[in-house]
Amino acid sequence: MEPSSLRAAYPVLREIAYLNAGTCGPVAEAAADAARAELHVATDDGRWMPYFERMIDLQARQRAAYAARVGASPDDVALTTSTSEGIVRVLAGLDLGPEDEIITSDEEHPGLMGPLGHLARRLLTHVRIVPFDQLAEAVGPATKLVACSHVSWVNGQVAPAALREVADSGIPVLLDGAQGAGAIPVDVNELGCTFYAAAGQKWLGGPVGTGLLYVDPQWHERLPSIGPTYLNLKDPGAGLDAEQHVDARRHDASALSAEASAFAVAAHEAIDATIGWPAAYERSATLAQRLADELATRGRKVAPRGRTTLVSWVEEDPAAFTQRALAHRVVVRDLPGWPYVRASVGAWNDESDLERLLALIA
Ligand SMILES: Cc1ncc(COP(=O)(O)O)c(C=O)c1O
Repeated sequence: MEPSSLRAAYPVLREIAYLNAGTCGPVAEAAADAARAELHVATDDGRWMPYFERMIDLQARQRAAYAARVGASPDDVALTTSTSEGIVRVLAGLDLGPEDEIITSDEEHPGLMGPLGHLARRLLTHVRIVPFDQLAEAVGPATKLVACSHVSWVNGQVAPAALREVADSGIPVLLDGAQGAGAIPVDVNELGCTFYAAAGQKWLGGPVGTGLLYVDPQWHERLPSIGPTYLNLKDPGAGLDAEQHVDARRHDASALSAEASAFAVAAHEAIDATIGWPAAYERSATLAQRLADELATRGRKVAPRGRTTLVSWVEEDPAAFTQRALAHRVVVRDLPGWPYVRASVGAWNDESDLERLLALIA
């Protein structure tokens, strides 16, 4: 299939140069149709046993799709409502106290910094902030966790490969994969990470309220859940004896509708069943690099980046640039506290989107 047919699957791209999947991915028509179809069934037939059976089946398909995107077995993947929820579940499950230290970086998203700050205040755990490229070297005797982005939301740099050795040495590594899963090839075994939390609504094109948490199988037992809820019990009918799943499903969100899962599954298929994920990764990384090169040619200072889908560059007034771009129906974003405008480039984009953005660069 030609990339142009993939592009046609996303109605937003008819009018808008949408370069903002780092916030929320474009919605494929087929994904919206799938959600609508589930709602029609619920509306017309009611929500009783068949609805729940469909819901369970769709959740299994969603889990399998997410697992494929991070190179994991479905049993090692929990369905969450967001990246941040996955992060919170890991931080709450680890037995951290005042003697312990967590290493993180100076370019983390509030979705990680908020939970870390809360932990530091509540449990007096020390959170040490170091430059992104020095995370592995910073590990010391008190370090009980390294928690950082897989792909930095600020500039698209990739976490140091040496974190693998940190995890191999027994210190768990939690990667915030909000800008990783669905954007670039992710293989949790190759990364060697212990936990990988990611978003369904960004590069996976699913609805807000979806996400995933990978848990290394060696940690299933060691990471207690924040508390069982009806739908993540292994045997809900067992009353007080009801046990949680033994695998990552124990960290499943307490609720996930059939329509949300149908949306997520169809969004995944929009790429899987067309150009396929490997080709999508290649195309978006190449387009993003082209944008970075063109910006540099036009004298813009592009932030150091990896082979990812994010391109950030310095503008004198990033918020004003973003507003001006919006007036031209080009969607990019500024990053509060940083001097950058950030473009998110997906396989659904093409040269015309880049040209519309570049036309705004003086
Ligand atoms: C690196 C990073 N982490 C976490 C988040 C928060 O994601 P979620 O809304 O899925 O919790 C974002 C969202 O932009 C992000 O870019």
